[in-house]
Amino acid sequence: MKILVTGGAGFIGSAVVREIINHTNNIVINVDKLTYAGNLESLDSIANSDRYHFAQVDICDREALDKLFTHYQPDAVMHLAAESHVDRSIDGPAAFIETNIIGTYTLLEAARHYWNSLNGEDKERFRFHHISTDEVYGDLHGTQDLFTETTPYAPSSPYSASKASSDHLVRAWHRTYGLPTIVTNCSNNYGPYHFPEKLIPLTILNALEGKPLPVYGDGSQIRDWLYVEDHARALYKVVTEGEVGETYNIGGHNERKNIDVVKTICAILDELKPNHPNGIKQYADLITFVTDRPGHDYRYAIDASKIANTLNWRPEETFESGIRKTVIWYLENQAWCRNIKDGSYARVRAGIINRSTEESKQ
Ligand SMILES: NC(=O)c1ccc[n+]([C@@H]2O[C@H](COP(=O)([O-])OP(=O)(O)OC[C@H]3O[C@@H](n4cnc5c(N)ncnc54)[C@H](O)[C@@H]3O)[C@@H](O)[C@H]2O)c1
Repeated sequence: MKILVTGGAGFIGSAVVREIINHTNNIVINVDKLTYAGNLESLDSIANSDRYHFAQVDICDREALDKLFTHYQPDAVMHLAAESHVDRSIDGPAAFIETNIIGTYTLLEAARHYWNSLNGEDKERFRFHHISTDEVYGDLHGTQDLFTETTPYAPSSPYSASKASSDHLVRAWHRTYGLPTIVTNCSNNYGPYHFPEKLIPLTILNALEGKPLPVYGDGSQIRDWLYVEDHARALYKVVTEGEVGETYNIGGHNERKNIDVVKTICAILDELKPNHPNGIKQYADLITFVTDRPGHDYRYAIDASKIANTLNWRPEETFESGIRKTVIWYLENQAWCRNIKDGSYARVRAGIINRSTEESKQ
């Protein structure tokens, strides 16, 4: 298969690209605008593969997308490109409307145009897989309820509202035009190559530098954590074996309060890095409660039984095994973190292979 992955330089997208290149014989075309969240250094381990191609393209650019579809003739699209950080969506929602809604619409139209040009088996085989979040369901207040594939949408933030909009567009393009789409909604991911603005990498890196560990409100918000490589394996299963028109919820059965996630990281660091910075006795001494995020969702929890029962997918990592692996990865990959912190990761873009060189690779 030739799989066009959008957002392949991001946190989850890069895990998907590494999964496909390392564990299958398929070809990947990574289409990424390289916003602040896109980091080609996350793909260093597979960048020299003959089966990997990169194009720096904005998914709002219809002309560029049409050229990519015509040139590469993909069998599937895995659409991950998005603005993804809730706090940024509160400070500046415009980019979320632009990429998550207009970008998804533009990509759907380019895919539809291309799909209509296919015939026979090629047309039959084509898939448009839209990767979304459980945040579209809003939040839960009881301790027992779970989000299922039929939970009504009730997004709370500009981010989740823009992702909800994109999910609706994808379903409409299936219902109205017959485009063979599949949607997945996943819980919070964590793991290697996570941009240091998100809770888990921020906690690890701040702790190592002896900086405050900010926790919103009283830290009682509950998230259902999934190790990113488990998500990547689930997504590959869905794009290759999932049923057209269906939605699959993906989750880790790992509900944790934010404060407990932070304390767990501190305890692992106490063990692995016992030379504490700034004279503190334990990393948990750095925990600092800060004013809660406006509209902060209380609890997310996923019922992932549909994907387990129909596609036989289950996460391989528990939270304990995944968080330990993640802390160790950040300890061993300080250069990746430093390049983000000092902004130099952006400069690798200056040296990227341009699209015309890429096209000659095919
Ligand atoms: N991170 C999570 O916990 C989580 C959970 C469930 C679902 N999701 C969804 O998974 C997807 C990937 O999330 P992530 O955490 O890897 O995000 P990310 O922010 O790490 O990466 C997003 C990628 O998209 C690219 N991008 C942004 N705007 C673009 C545009 N206009 N054109 C082309 N590329 C563009 C960025 O350069 C970046 O490489 C998103 O759609 C997100 O909504 C994320």
